[in-house]
Amino acid sequence: MNRARWLCVALLAAAALWLNSAPPLFAQEASTSGSSERATYVGAQECQKCHEEQSATWEHNPHQGNRVDGHAAGPVIGCESCHGPGSLHVAAEGDEDDPRFKTMLNLKTAKAADASAACVSCHKTAEQFHWEQSAHAKNDVSCRDCHSIHEPKDPGATKLLAAKNATAQCVKCHHDKRSELAHTAHMPIREGSMTCADCHNPHGSPGPKMIRAASNTDLCTTCHMDKRGPMLWEHPPVRENCVTCHMPHGSNNDKVLASKRPFLCQRCHIANRHPSTLYDQPDLVSNRLFNRSCTNCHSQIHGSNHPSGKTFLR
Ligand code: HEC
Ligand code: HEC
Ligand code: HEC
Ligand code: HEC
Ligand code: HEC
Ligand code: HEC
Ligand code: HEC
Ligand code: HEC
Ligand code: HEC
Ligand code: HEC
Repeated sequence: MNRARWLCVALLAAAALWLNSAPPLFAQEASTSGSSERATYVGAQECQKCHEEQSATWEHNPHQGNRVDGHAAGPVIGCESCHGPGSLHVAAEGDEDDPRFKTMLNLKTAKAADASAACVSCHKTAEQFHWEQSAHAKNDVSCRDCHSIHEPKDPGATKLLAAKNATAQCVKCHHDKRSELAHTAHMPIREGSMTCADCHNPHGSPGPKMIRAASNTDLCTTCHMDKRGPMLWEHPPVRENCVTCHMPHGSNNDKVLASKRPFLCQRCHIANRHPSTLYDQPDLVSNRLFNRSCTNCHSQIHGSNHPSGKTFLR
C-alpha cells in the first residue's frame, strides 16, 4: 500500500470513529487536549477548599448528602455529580494555563443540551419524564435557565429557582403572559394562590402546550369540578374546550371570557328563533341588549341537569 492510500484509509477510519462516538457527557470523557490522563472523582471536600462561593450555599442545598443509585460519580451527591470528575482540575491547582484546568464541565457555558444532560443523568422520571419532548428542550431552554443551583432565589430554596416563584420565572421569557395576568379578570395567579406550574409542567407533558392534563377541558375540571358533567343537557362547546370561551391567562371581560356577551354567543348562534341581531334594532332598551345579556336568561351555560333545561334557562 502506498503512503497516500494508507493516509487516506487512516483518515476515514478516524472519521468513522469520531462519528460513532456518543456526545460526551462530561468534558474529560472526550480526550482531554494534551493529556492522556483520565480524571477520577475526588469528593466535594477537595472542591470546597478553593470554591468558597459555591460551598457557602452547598450545606443547604437539597442535593447535599443525598444518595442516588448507579450514578457514575458515586452514591453520595457531591460537586462532581454535576461537574464531572475533578482530579485533573484539582491537580492544576488553580493554574488556568495548565491543560488539566479546563476539564470541569462548566454548566454555565456548556451548550444547552449538554448542560441539561448533566441534570437528566438523575432527573429523568416523574416530573421530568417528558423533558426531551418539551417545547423548552426543543428550543434550547435548559434546566439552568430556570434553576439556580448555587444562587437560588425562591424562599427556602426548595425548588432551587432562579426567580422568587414559578410565575416570576416564567414571565421572564413569556412577556405576553405577564401583561395578560394584569387584566381585570384573571385567576388568582398574580395574587400567588396559583402559579403557571399548576396548569403547565415546564418540563413537558404528554398533553398539548405542556398542560398537566390530556386536554384543556380535563385540565380546567380538575379544579372546577362542578363543570365536569356529564349533564342531562350538554352544551357541546363546554365538553369540547373551555378555552373556546375563557382565556386561561386573563382577559378584560368578566369571568375571563374571550369576548363580551352577546358577541361571545353569537360567534356560533347566529340564526336563533329569537332575534340575535341585537345591534341593528332602533330601540336598544326594549331589545335583548340592555342589561339582558344571553346568560341573564340562559344562566346554566355549562349545561343543565333540570328536566326542562334543554335551553339552559334553568
Ligand atoms: C486549587 C484550587 C481549586 C480546586 C481544589 C478546585 N478548583 Fe475549580 N476552579 C479553581 C479556579 C481558580 C477556577 C477559576 C475561577 C472560578 O471560576 O472560580 C476554577 C473553576 C472551576 C469551574 C469553572 C470551569 C471553567 O471551565 O470555567 C468549575 C465548574 C469548577 N472549578 C469546579 C470545581 C470542582 C467540582 C472541584 C472539585 C472536584 C474544583 N473545582 C476544585 C480552583 C480550584
Ligand atoms: C446539582 C448540580 C450541581 C452541583 C451538585 C454543583 N454545581 Fe456548580 N454549577 C451548577 C450549575 C448548573 C452551574 C452554572 C449555572 C449557575 O451558576 O447557577 C454551576 C456553576 C459552578 C461554578 C461557576 C462556573 C462559572 O463559570 O461561573 C463553579 C465554580 C461551581 N459550579 C462549583 C461547584 C462546587 C465547588 C460544587 C460543590 C460544592 C458544585 N459546583 C456543585 C450545578 C451544580
Ligand atoms: C447525581 C444525581 C443528581 C444530579 C446530577 C442532579 N440532581 Fe437534582 N436532585 C437529586 C436528588 C437525589 C435530589 C433530592 C430529591 C429529594 O429531596 O426528594 C435533587 C433535588 C433537586 C431539586 C429540588 C427538588 C425537590 O423536590 O425539592 C431540584 C430543583 C433539582 N434537584 C434540580 C437539578 C438540576 C437543575 C440539576 C442539574 C444542574 C440537578 N438537579 C442535578 C439528584 C440529582
Ligand atoms: C422553564 C423553566 C424550567 C425549566 C427549563 C426546568 N425547570 Fe425544573 N422546575 C421549574 C419550576 C417552576 C419548578 C417548580 C414547580 C412547582 O412549583 O410545582 C420546577 C421544579 C423542579 C424540580 C422539583 C419538582 C419535582 O418533584 O420534580 C426538579 C427536580 C426540577 N425542576 C428539575 C429540573 C431539571 C432536571 C430540568 C432540566 C432537565 C428542569 N428542571 C428544567 C421550572 C423549570
Ligand atoms: C428562558 C426562557 C423561558 C422561560 C424562563 C420559560 N419559557 Fe416557556 N418557552 C420558552 C421558549 C423559547 C418556548 C418555545 C417557543 C415558544 O413557543 O414561544 C417556550 C414555550 C412554552 C410553552 C408552549 C408549549 C408548546 O407546546 O407550544 C409553554 C406552555 C411554556 N413555554 C410555559 C412556560 C412556563 C409555565 C414557564 C415557567 C415555569 C416557562 N415557560 C418559562 C422560553 C421560556
Ligand atoms: C388555569 C390554567 C393555566 C394557567 C394558570 C396558565 N396557563 Fe398557560 N395555558 C393554559 C392552557 C389551557 C393553554 C392552551 C391554550 C389553547 O389551547 O389555546 C395555555 C397555553 C400557554 C402557552 C402557549 C400558547 C400561548 O398562548 O402562547 C404559553 C406560552 C403559556 N400558556 C404560558 C403560561 C405562563 C407563562 C403562565 C403563567 C403566567 C401560564 N401559562 C399559566 C392554561 C394555563
Ligand atoms: C389549579 C386549579 C385551577 C385550574 C386548573 C383552573 N382554575 Fe379557574 N380558578 C381557580 C381559582 C382558585 C379561581 C378563583 C376562584 C374564586 O375566586 O372563587 C378560578 C376562577 C376561574 C374563573 C372565574 C374568574 C372570575 O373572574 O370570576 C373562571 C371563568 C375560570 N377559573 C376558568 C378556568 C378555566 C377555563 C380553566 C382551564 C383552562 C381553569 N379555570 C383552570 C383555579 C383553577
Ligand atoms: C360557551 C361558552 C363557554 C364555555 C365553552 C365554557 N364557559 Fe365557563 N362561563 C361562560 C360564561 C358566559 C360564564 C359567565 C356566566 C355568568 O356570568 O352567569 C362562565 C363562567 C364560568 C365560571 C365562573 C362562574 C361559575 O359558574 O363558577 C367558571 C369557573 C367557568 N365558567 C368554568 C368553565 C369551565 C371549567 C369550562 C369547561 C369545562 C367552561 N367554563 C366552558 C361561558 C363558557
Ligand atoms: C363554539 C360555539 C358556541 C358558542 C360560543 C356558544 N354555543 Fe351555544 N351551542 C353550540 C352548539 C353546537 C349547540 C348545540 C346546537 C344544537 O343542538 O342544535 C349549542 C346549544 C345552545 C343552546 C340550546 C339550543 C337548543 O336548541 O337546545 C342554547 C340556549 C345556547 N347554546 C346558548 C348559548 C349562549 C347563551 C352562549 C353564550 C354564552 C353560547 N350558546 C355560546 C355552540 C356554541
Ligand atoms: C329575555 C331572555 C332571553 C335572552 C336575553 C336570550 N334568550 Fe335565548 N331563549 C330564551 C327563551 C325563553 C328561549 C326559548 C326556550 C324554549 O323554547 O324552550 C330561548 C331559546 C334560545 C335558543 C334555542 C332555540 C332556538 O332555536 O333558537 C338559543 C340557541 C338561544 N336562545 C340563544 C340565545 C343567545 C345567543 C342569546 C344572546 C344573544 C339569547 N338567547 C338571549 C330567552 C332568552
